[in-house]
Amino acid sequence: MTELKNMIAPYLTGDVFALVYLVAGVLFILGLKGLSHPSTARRGNNFAMLGMFIAIAVTLLHPSVTDYMWIFVPMALGALIGVPLALKINMTAMPQLVAILHSFVGLAAVLVAGGMFLPYTPQLIDAHGIVNEGVIPQLSMSTLFEIFMGAWIGAITFTGSIVAFGKLNGNFRSAPITFKGQHLLNLVIFLVMLGAGGYFVMFQSTEAFVVMCALAFLLGFTLIIPIGGADMPVIVSMLNSYSGWAAAATGFTLGNMQLIIAGALIGSSGAILSYIMCKAMNRSFISVVLGGFGASDDEIEMAAKQAAVAEKGVKSAAVEDAAYMLENAESVVIVPGYGMAVAQAQHALKEVTEILEEKGVKTRFAIHPVAGRMPGHMNVLLAEADVPYDRVEEMDEINNEFSQTDVVLVVGANDVVNPDAKEDPSSPLYGMPILDAYKAKMVYVVKRSMNSGYAGVENTLFYMDNTYMIFGDAKEVAEGLSGTLKGASH
Ligand code: TAP
Repeated sequence: MTELKNMIAPYLTGDVFALVYLVAGVLFILGLKGLSHPSTARRGNNFAMLGMFIAIAVTLLHPSVTDYMWIFVPMALGALIGVPLALKINMTAMPQLVAILHSFVGLAAVLVAGGMFLPYTPQLIDAHGIVNEGVIPQLSMSTLFEIFMGAWIGAITFTGSIVAFGKLNGNFRSAPITFKGQHLLNLVIFLVMLGAGGYFVMFQSTEAFVVMCALAFLLGFTLIIPIGGADMPVIVSMLNSYSGWAAAATGFTLGNMQLIIAGALIGSSGAILSYIMCKAMNRSFISVVLGGFGASDDEIEMAAKQAAVAEKGVKSAAVEDAAYMLENAESVVIVPGYGMAVAQAQHALKEVTEILEEKGVKTRFAIHPVAGRMPGHMNVLLAEADVPYDRVEEMDEINNEFSQTDVVLVVGANDVVNPDAKEDPSSPLYGMPILDAYKAKMVYVVKRSMNSGYAGVENTLFYMDNTYMIFGDAKEVAEGLSGTLKGASH
């Protein structure tokens, strides 16, 4: 590596670095563009990976990189842990993985900020173990400001993402953890943290740096604990945005153009995604960040009790009944949700749609923007099962058509079809747009029990006159449907 570097060093001017970083930046943008549609997502991913490869390779050739051992050994260790983890991870656990990866970006930003600043502290120990009062070069105020920005955003991202990981992974309860005076406490922590940061920037004080980081770590924790399960998607994407800004601030500190470009792209695309998701859930971004939305434990318990009582009120149907109604319908809409992902029912469902299409039944999938546990979760699963894109409709495209639909098959979806989100102002879901499945002539809901969905609230759709429950695992029911439909055609 060092020989290669020496050989090409004369050609690697600042301009060449800038140009190569620009090429990598363009590849990142092409990557993001590709990711905006399932049909181009794979290509987008390849562009982004190529951009990252180029960015890393050229950075390793930079004259300021002198020791490769400290780069390659941790990289190899990271790959050793990361590759098997990424290969093994279930699609349903992807949001947790994303959250924990954001936490690493945040921690890296704090460590880089500390690394830029701490070497300048006095006590330097020389080779003979003698403590010298080392020289403390005065860093410029702008550098100290960059260090401050990278460190506090990174610290909030780190602990915030760990809490998000814990909530998504079931290590912490996903309901909001709220207490009196919470907003005031957050505000006080934030202001004291800013004060400590200001002192650090003015006087380059190590103590102020440590206090500022400690408060930012605490703030990441206190900001995310009141966020309820149903708002977690927005939080994960917001933390994604934070991790980008932390990386961009680190780029300024290190004087690395590539980190600034990549960080700004992540920061702004994460912010746009958060905005789109807030719009999809009809939430104000500020209220989500300061909020506490979702169901408390008591509410969940109450919902469970209500469910137990109301259970008697639901009508259940057999797979054969549903198959009969499906094949005699003119139009069918399938609403997939988290349960489809858990059961991996997408392949069996695709088969159902193919059989129905062969029988002349117009069959489509309706996708809610936050169905499942990550943005685009349902699109990814349906693409994996090779469902043609023209059979997949987004919420805005299909919502007007439910009232003319003969049969809706809700498969493992719950919150995203809950009419209370429209009609019951006391529901924690109130205000979130839903797929208007309840307007269809007939609705079959496939799930295993009367358990609630992610937001922990009761679903009035299940008790409506036109709704029938098919209790069972989504994959088994879907296979049962395709089997019955196939049998019926012979
Ligand atoms: P949920 O409301 O979470 O409901 C999923 C339903 O699937 C459950 O009621 C469950 O009932 C059923 N289920 C689970 N395993 C099943 C299986 N093997 N077979 C059949 N059914 C099964 O799902 P949704 O409607 O997709 O809504 C998503 C929720 O997650 C929203 O509240 C959203 O805000 C939140 N969220 C979304 C994201 C993103 S970005 N998409 C990220 C985090 C959180 P049973 O247990 O009775 O089977």
